[in-house]
Amino acid sequence: MADKKANKNKIAIYPGSFDPLTNGHIDIIERALEIFDQVIIAVLHNPSKKSLFTMDERVTMIKQSFNGKNSVQVDSFGGLLVDYAKIKNAVAIIRGMRAISDFESEFQMALMNRKLNKEVQSVFLMTGFRWIFTSSSIIKEAAQFGGDISDMVPEAVHIKMLEKYPPPKKIEA
Ligand code: PNS
Repeated sequence: MADKKANKNKIAIYPGSFDPLTNGHIDIIERALEIFDQVIIAVLHNPSKKSLFTMDERVTMIKQSFNGKNSVQVDSFGGLLVDYAKIKNAVAIIRGMRAISDFESEFQMALMNRKLNKEVQSVFLMTGFRWIFTSSSIIKEAAQFGGDISDMVPEAVHIKMLEKYPPPKKIEA
């Protein structure tokens, strides 16, 4: 018997704060695109969480980084992730896994999402070894104190980061 779902356009949501997008996120999106036809990068609108970049800045940087790639859409959402996934007809929620330390909170979130909506599967993808210690927070901290983060973020993010944290001026002897 033919699988009813076999020919469907498979959509996955990749949710997150993306404050900002990193090369680790890009690695996960590229892996997700090997499994799904469409990936919607969904930036959480969370007014109670202080972010470095505004929603507009985050969405724009992600769009610039994917440069009109058809299989990638960029959007923002508020409220429950599973409700958003349903509106978008997504079959899966993608989350990246780095070290074991990610596991507990991700496991909790996945089980809550499953309780709320059994039709959306959580899919965990292992990040490339190179990005195991990469996170938006650690990158922001390094950039704040003048650290070179150019090989950890896409160019659009690097440019914007330099605007937020201009490199210290060198004093001429
Ligand atoms: O990049 P982050 O901050 O780790 O992403 C967390 C995110 C956005 C995936 C999570 O906070 C979320 O899904 N928020 C939406 C609210 C929700 O659905 N909560 C119930 C499941 S825990």
